[in-house]
Parts: sequence; structure tokens; C-alpha cells
Amino acid sequence: MKEKLLKKFAELFGEGGDILSYFSPGRVNLIGGHTDYNGGHVFPCTLTLGTYAVVRKRRDQKLRFFSQNMEQIGILESDLSDLIFNPADGFGNYLKGVIWSFIQKGYSIPYGMDLMVAGDIPSGAGLSSSASLEMVMCLILKEMYDFSDLSLSDLALIAQSAENMYCHIHCGIMDPFTIAMGKKGHALFLDTSNLSYEYIPLHLEHEKLIIAYSNKKRCIANSKYNERRRECETALYDLQKLTTISSLSELTMDAFEMVKSAISDPICVKRARHAVSENQRTIQAARALKENDLILFGKLMNQSHISLRDDYEVTGKELDTLVQAAWEHQGVLGARMTGAGFGGCTVNLVKNESVDSFIEQVGEKYQNTIGYPADFYVVKTGSGVCRC
Ligand code: GLA
Repeated sequence: MKEKLLKKFAELFGEGGDILSYFSPGRVNLIGGHTDYNGGHVFPCTLTLGTYAVVRKRRDQKLRFFSQNMEQIGILESDLSDLIFNPADGFGNYLKGVIWSFIQKGYSIPYGMDLMVAGDIPSGAGLSSSASLEMVMCLILKEMYDFSDLSLSDLALIAQSAENMYCHIHCGIMDPFTIAMGKKGHALFLDTSNLSYEYIPLHLEHEKLIIAYSNKKRCIANSKYNERRRECETALYDLQKLTTISSLSELTMDAFEMVKSAISDPICVKRARHAVSENQRTIQAARALKENDLILFGKLMNQSHISLRDDYEVTGKELDTLVQAAWEHQGVLGARMTGAGFGGCTVNLVKNESVDSFIEQVGEKYQNTIGYPADFYVVKTGSGVCRC
């Protein structure tokens, strides 16, 4: 892969100079859906699917970006003096957004770059292709300019602010943080209220993780993601009249039941109930994985989907069909939607011997109900963002 990319880079931008290559993974969240902006826990892992980048610093201020996944766009050209968001720049906005974010934080970026990216994360699938791009740019800038004061977790915050302030997508910290800190063979148990985390080994000897992509693109910017955030904020605002909590995740289910009458809008009660119950489930799931109790882990995944479907209402027909078909397969320990929802992917914990029949049966049911096929990826955990 690397050799091919270096060759292509030389064809596009010429040979010579200091050419560096990087890898930045995609991620899948095993459980902990829509908790990261409610001060709760998440439990994702990084994948071997990801974004490769080849880069060389320039002597002027030009930025030239090329994506092998979007060859038809050609080379996107811009300039450090013109970092304005431009919808026509597509993936280039994520890269420009990170440069903008560094500059906003007071870091000087004097020179432009030639950068080529190529990846195998299906775009729009909810496996964080955008955070993967952002994190690779973060690491490139850190190393290109020797910003040694910046830790990986600082880089994740810079990537998040690029997405929030530049791309106007109000996502939480989970995706960039996971991509920054991910570790092969482990899931990352992250408390988003204070960014403390623990690596928990994901020893799947008798099971595989299968991601099923609905082929319905989830477009987070156009989706109801921001609306859900607002509904949770409204619930929290109401609860703060009665309690001293600063996030929904500070509540246990019992405490929530006692105070929920303070929330005036019944829709917001449901949203808050999901945030609280999902956080508790995620804590339980991390414990279950530590104890190697994959049966309980799978049950918690199932409950997570039900809560996302009924209380949070972010699933939709495609994801529900995939999950329902998975639940009907006897080789499945657990299945749920993953990512923001409204399309995108499900994550499934499947016994080794059932992988083929799972793909066949779930695929068939999906095709018959929805009218077009789903794609399946038997995935492995991989490292976080790195030079390669
Ligand atoms: C998207 C966001 C994350 C998180 C998930 C839902 O992936 O980028 O921050 O909120 O949705 O869990």
C-alpha cells in the first residue's frame, strides 16, 4: 500500500524532498451511543480500516490536496491565507479546518503542503472517516512543526474544534479521541466528562466483530444529531432546577426516575432516559468485557439498540432491519447500531462458526426488506494515528 501511494504521490506532485507517510484509523463504537456530549462513557475501538496520508512540506503557502478515493475531483488547491470553508472542497474542508484550528489556538503554520490521502473506510458509514482525516492532519502538523507541547489528547481536542467551529458539526470528543489513543487488541473505555480512559483487552477467540453497512449514508450535518443535542440540553436545564448535576450522565437510573418530572417536554424525558441508561449500560459492558462475559456484553449491546430506537429515535428502518435480522440469527451474541445513526452501520458480535451464515442471512433479509444490499466487514482492531 505504502509503495503504491508513494509512487502516485511522485506522479502527482513530483519526486524529492522529505516525503512522510501516516496512517489514521476509523473507529467503531461497541456501546455508548450518544453519550459523549452528555458527559458519559463510550467504549469504542480503532480498526485496521483507515486513511493513509503521504505529505511533503512546501516552500510557499499553497495547499494541494488529492484523495485517491475521489480522483474525479482532481487536486484541490487553496492557500494558507484563504482557509475559508468551501462546500465545493468536500474532504478538503476537514483538512483545512484542522489547519484553521491550529492557527486559532495560536500555532504558527508558515508553509503549505502537498498531501495525498487514500483510505478504505466507507465514507458516510459512521466509522469516522472525517475524524480519521482530521487526526492525520493533526499529527502531520504536530510533527512538521515540532509542536512538542501538544499531546495526542490535545490533538483530539483540536480536531474536535475543527469539526465543531469550522465544519459546524457539533459532534462530541469520542471519534478524534479514539483515533488518537486507540490501541490494537483493545477497546477504549473513555469517560468523556474528564477524558480519563482505560484500555480493556478485546480478546475475541471464539467471536468476530462484524460491521454491517446499510448503504444508507448517514449525513450527520443534515441529520437530527444537533436536534438531539438540544433536546438533551433542555432536559438538563430543567433538571438543574431540582438538582446540582452538570451533565445527564451524573444520574443513575434510580435518581433519574426520582427527578424526571422536572423535565417539562415528554420527548426530552425520553432523550434524557436514553442518555442516563446508556451511560450505565456502557459502564456495565466494560465490566463485563473485563470479566470476559461476552454473553452479558452482547445483551447490553441489544439493550443499547432498543434504547436508541425507542427513546432516542435515531435508528430508522435500515438499521432496525439489520439489527432485527442479526438478533434472529442464533450465532449472534449482540447487535446494535453504531455511530450517529439515521443510516450508517451496525456492529455485531458473532460466533466464529456463524460468520458466513450471518452475512448470508442478514444480507438476504436486508435486501428483501430494503430493496438494495448491505455491505459486511469482518473487522480487526488496529492502532491509533501514527507515522508509518
Ligand atoms: C457521531 C459523533 C460522536 C458521537 C456519536 C454518537 O459519531 O461524531 O461524537 O456523538 O455520533 O455516539
